[in-house]
Amino acid sequence: MNQVEYKFSYEVYNSIEDLSKEDAFLLNEARQMTQNAWAPYSRFRVGAVARLKSGRLVIGANQENASYPAGICAESVLLSTAGATYPGEPIETLAVSYEGDGVANDHPISPCGICRQRLQEFEQRTKHPVRLILAGKTGKVYIISTASLLMPLAFTGDELDIQL
Ligand code: THU
Repeated sequence: MNQVEYKFSYEVYNSIEDLSKEDAFLLNEARQMTQNAWAPYSRFRVGAVARLKSGRLVIGANQENASYPAGICAESVLLSTAGATYPGEPIETLAVSYEGDGVANDHPISPCGICRQRLQEFEQRTKHPVRLILAGKTGKVYIISTASLLMPLAFTGDELDIQL
């Protein structure tokens, strides 16, 4: 028997003040993008903004539905927009923030399982890491060098013998 260890490390900053100008800009945009959410059911608005390798920006915000499972997360909206608007263009960095009614909004959230799966395949198909910046409206900021770190032992197209 071999014990296999999975190591995961990420950067923690005390606030947006400690980020580079470029990263702080992207996080501020993500914070503003929470206003574009359609979240009357959860009252939890998530905003996402990515800088592509070309420098172009792509946005996302969660879009809910009275049929709850039909709702789409901000990260997934963004990945679909990026794929449909600029096919093949890698994402350099993706910032995610949120604003929930009645909660502190003072710590990072990290993507749900389905978004992690989509992020993993986006990295694979563009052959480029998606760097994540995660933060609330205030407080600590996490930076994760590649989204796939959040998805160890992922199920991928490789298992289906499909070459992406
Ligand atoms: N949500 C996101 O958009 N991104 C996340 O990373 C976590 C959750 C959305 C889904 C739903 O519209 C609301 O937040 C509450 O779960």
